[in-house]
This record gives sequence, C-alpha cells and structure tokens, in this order.
Amino acid sequence: MSDRWYQKAVVYCLDIDTFADSNGDGCGDIRGLIGRLDYLARLGITCLWLNPIHPSPDRDDGYDVEDFYNVDPRFGTLGDFAELLHEAGNLGIKVIIDLVVNHTSDQHPWFQSARSSPDSPYRDWYVWADHAPDDRHQGMVFPGEQGETWTYDRTAKLWFYHRFYKFQPDLNIRNPEVRREIKKICSFWLQLGVAGFRMDAVPFIIEETEPGNPASPKDLDFLTELRQHVQWRRSDAVLLAEANVEPAQLVDFFGDSGGSANRIHMLFDFLLNTKLMLALARRDPEPVIEALRESPALPEGGQWATFLRNHDEVDLSRLIADQRQEVFAQFGPEPEMQLYGRGIRRRLATMLGGDRRRIELAYALQFSLRGTPVLRYGEEIGMGEDLALAGRNSIRTPMQWSLLPNAGFSTADPRDLVRPVVSGGEFGYEKVNVTLQRHDSRSLLSWFERMIRTLREAPEVGAGRCAHVDVPVPRGVLVHRADDGTGTMVFVHNLGPDDATLDLSVLHPEAEFANDVLADREYPEVDKFETVQVAGYGYRWIRLRRCL
Ligand code: NOJ
Repeated sequence: MSDRWYQKAVVYCLDIDTFADSNGDGCGDIRGLIGRLDYLARLGITCLWLNPIHPSPDRDDGYDVEDFYNVDPRFGTLGDFAELLHEAGNLGIKVIIDLVVNHTSDQHPWFQSARSSPDSPYRDWYVWADHAPDDRHQGMVFPGEQGETWTYDRTAKLWFYHRFYKFQPDLNIRNPEVRREIKKICSFWLQLGVAGFRMDAVPFIIEETEPGNPASPKDLDFLTELRQHVQWRRSDAVLLAEANVEPAQLVDFFGDSGGSANRIHMLFDFLLNTKLMLALARRDPEPVIEALRESPALPEGGQWATFLRNHDEVDLSRLIADQRQEVFAQFGPEPEMQLYGRGIRRRLATMLGGDRRRIELAYALQFSLRGTPVLRYGEEIGMGEDLALAGRNSIRTPMQWSLLPNAGFSTADPRDLVRPVVSGGEFGYEKVNVTLQRHDSRSLLSWFERMIRTLREAPEVGAGRCAHVDVPVPRGVLVHRADDGTGTMVFVHNLGPDDATLDLSVLHPEAEFANDVLADREYPEVDKFETVQVAGYGYRWIRLRRCL
C-alpha cells in the first residue's frame, strides 16, 4: 500500500469568499470555514485546496495577487489562517493553497515599482519589450475577454507581457531573484503549516518569453529546483499542478530521475476530464477507455488528480469540433451556458438535468478511476449555477447551507453578499441545501459520505493499477478494475439508460467472497459472475479479493 498521503487523499476545493461568512459582512471568511470543518470531516475529505487567499484587487477571483505573504483582510488575518491549519489538522485534514506565481496583480508593489523607473530593482522581474511584438494577438487564454498578450504601459513606455488578463503582468522566470522569491513564498507558507500547493498555470510559469516568438522555450528545470526546495522544507509537501498541455508533454512535468518523479507530484487530468464529459454526453464509455489507454505511464510517485468540475469552465478544447458540439448539445445548448468558445459554465448537476442517477453514476465513476479525486464545493449537494453572473462566476455562488436567509451562508443584507445565492427553481437553496440533506440517508450528500467512506476501505483505488476489463459487454457499460498489494476491486458503470446483464465469469477464478461494497441498489449476488446485472445509469463497486 502506498504510504504517500496524496495518493490516498480526497481533495475538496473551495473559495473562502463563498463558503461561510462568520461576521455578517457578506463575504466568506476563515473563521466561517473553521466553523464548517466538522462538516468536511464528516463528508470524509482529507485535503482542502483553497483557491487564492491573498490580498487582491479581485479582478480574477483572487488569481491576481497583490501580496504573497498575507491573507486577504476580507478573509481574516494570518492568525486566523494558522488557527485554520491547526483545527483542520486536528480533524485529519491537510490544507493546500493556490500558488499563483506566473503573474502578479498590476497593483502589486513589485509591478508598481517596476513600471515606474528603469532603475527600479523590480524592473527585470517582469517581461518587457521596446516595440509592439508581432505575436501580441496570439496565445490569449480568455478569448473574447482578452484582446492581446502584450500591452503598452504608458508609465514605463514599454510593452509588458501577460499570458492572462492585462491586469496580470507575467513574472520573468529567467530572473534568479524571481526564482528565489517564489521559493521564499513556498517556504513561508510551508513554515506556517500548509501541506503543499496547487500550482496555477505551470506551463506559463516556466515559459521564457521572447517577444515575437509564440513558441518560447520552457525551463522545466525550474520545476526540479522548486521540488527540491519544497521537499527539503517539508518532506511530505505536495505540488499539484495545473498544466493543460498536449498529452505527450505531460510526463516532462512529472520529471523522471531514475524512474521517480522529481518535479510535480500530481497533475490534474484534463484529458480524462474532457473524455469523461464526452462519455457522459454520449452515454458510452468508449472515450474513457481511450483516455485510460492513451494516458502515459507515470514515474514512481507521480499521480493524476481527477475531477469533473472545478472553479473554471469545463474546458472542451482538447476535443475535436464535432465532439465538442456533441457535449455542448447535451450539457450546454444555450449560448449563455458556453464560454470562450470552448467551455461550459455550469455545474454537473444542472448539466445532467438534475438526474440523481446520472449524478451518482458520474461521481462513482470519477472516484473509482486511477488518481486522487478532487471535488468542488457544493457538488456534494447538487448545487446549480447562476447564468446571470458574468463568465466563470456563474459557478462561484455561495454555499447553500440551509433554509435560513442567504442559504445560511451569511447574515448580511442580500445586497451586500459577495455574490447572490442561487434561489428558486430546482437548484435554489430552498430545495438544495446541506441541512435538508444532512439527516436524510437517501440524500445526495449522504451518498457522497458513503461513497467516500467506501473509498477509504479500498486503497487499491487511486494508488493502485487501474485497467479496463476488456470483455464483451452491452453498449454503455464500462468494467474496470483496481489492483495493488492490498487486493482488487472491480467496477461496473452503466452510462446508458438500459438495464444490462454481463458475463464477467473471467473474474471468477480470482474472486474470494466477492460482494458489492457500493451500488445504486441491491443486486443479486455475483455468484460465479456469469450474469452480473446493472441497471440503466447504475453502478456496482465489487470487492473481488482482499490480501490483508
Ligand atoms: C488558472 C485558474 O484556474 C484560473 O481561474 C485563473 O483565471 C487563471 N489560471 C489565471 O491565474
């Protein structure tokens, strides 16, 4: 069994500002989150990933940092943060934070100084060009919201580079002082007690931008350096990276030193995410099988992080145009549901039309695949979105705790809330909230608790080998297995609407008192695996054998 915590973790991602407001000012805060840690412990999560916590003008939901060594005063103080780490630790929950060091806010004192004078000690911390680079209309991450990647700064009388919005100037990774500062930021937060970092925009951090060269070189060695540094400061700290790059390049981000990953520990599996969406849209698991087949073998200690929804749009850019249209047609048919021409700005429950069977099926599938599952707050109760909010904010609405005003998120005047609470309709807080689901053993929340508890008893999932069981099965059905030294689990997921019966007798010789440990309903015993039944949109997690 792996003794690396991140290979057995269940990660829960949240934004402090929309989770729980303790002081009634309309914005979620650290003390509010501390008050809800018991909820997270009961849910069974083992690691919290906090979206940016630093002071910020908040023009990109905190991904525009103004001070890396503090917490946003709206959230509380550094003291509150230390309390959070302590309280979470008491409940067995580790905390990782977003490390957003590809860029800073243009309000950051470093940039303010850099632009003010050629003699500023920070001038070379950013990426400048004397003349308008001809590739300045290429490489935008937010088409429609961002017109270019180089902007003229009238104070500096130079062009500066920004891979993202123009208020997010890129740091210059070639500069040794910048590299040192990034390490110092990591040290600071590790010293306070965080268990690692979700690294934002990693392919861009390591980009050695050259004006006029849209394919600038990438300094992967910086990742090796950073890993060494972080590991020295805290040996079990983890780096979880966002790197939505071509599959062939992914292994470079893990690094390989004699067979062991020596750069990033965990990468989000964007490809699997897209293929899961396509599979759910088609009600056919083939794209998932393809993704499993095509994903590169990982070096020792390297791990995927799986997800269905995160804080951004569902990014379908890795699908071909026809496939993307298929997913749009099923899950985001209206233009207002789509974003950047490539994504969907909805939550999973609404994409699946609120169909409880399909929501369970989708999450049972995600959590049973290889890698560490990451869950976005509110998904566990089936929250929906607010399409009246701009861009990605549609899925960043306050957590729906109860039937109290503002869904129990805050006691502030509704006009003062950081974002409005989703109210009315099938997904409004009046129908979808924690309190209603907490004591109902048939609720989605109770199901998540059971599912996560079951996963804790199956260490081969996540860290073990995951393989498609390639036997003839009815359309819509996926059979896969997870194996390691502790035993074997077999999973049957039916993405289609029709009940199915499968002959899985090839598995019988390996079985030792096989039984369902999680299923959408009670099924007859598997017996000799000759007629294994699974309902339309049903699933079965079957323990095949246990070695302990
Ligand atoms: C990726 C983050 O996930 C996204 O929310 C953010 O806007 C960009 N990086 C820029 O930091």
